[in-house]
Amino acid sequence: MDRRTFVRQLSSVAAGAGCAVLTTACAGLPYVAGARVSRGIRVLRADLDGLDFAFVETGAGGPPIFLSRSETGFVAVSTRCTHRGCSVAPESGVLACPCHGSRFQFDGSLLEGPAPRALDSFQLEEEADHITILAADP
Ligand code: FES
Repeated sequence: MDRRTFVRQLSSVAAGAGCAVLTTACAGLPYVAGARVSRGIRVLRADLDGLDFAFVETGAGGPPIFLSRSETGFVAVSTRCTHRGCSVAPESGVLACPCHGSRFQFDGSLLEGPAPRALDSFQLEEEADHITILAADP
């Protein structure tokens, strides 16, 4: 099985089983597998082909990281809501929290509370064939 096939199958599994970590609203959302490296989590650009955003599985059993395209490259933010820690998911072009209704831009900035602040964000190192989410320890 090649890596692309693995990622697509993981997406299907994650959309089902992984939704226990997120919400029932996550069915069908794209997931990619991140590889742990010394500086963080590495994602292959080829796995992001055709995607505006994806959840990155960290392999640590924790919540995935939300990685999205911006005008200048990629942005990575925690999927853990800053209010009480529920998992946010994309909904109508924003990241929405199903617990109490907070909403965030894809770059993590706060649109609407009760969350008190933006989502935690991660520095990225972008290379030709991969992106490293630095010091990602969600
Ligand atoms: S936990 Fe997200 S709004 Fe309360």
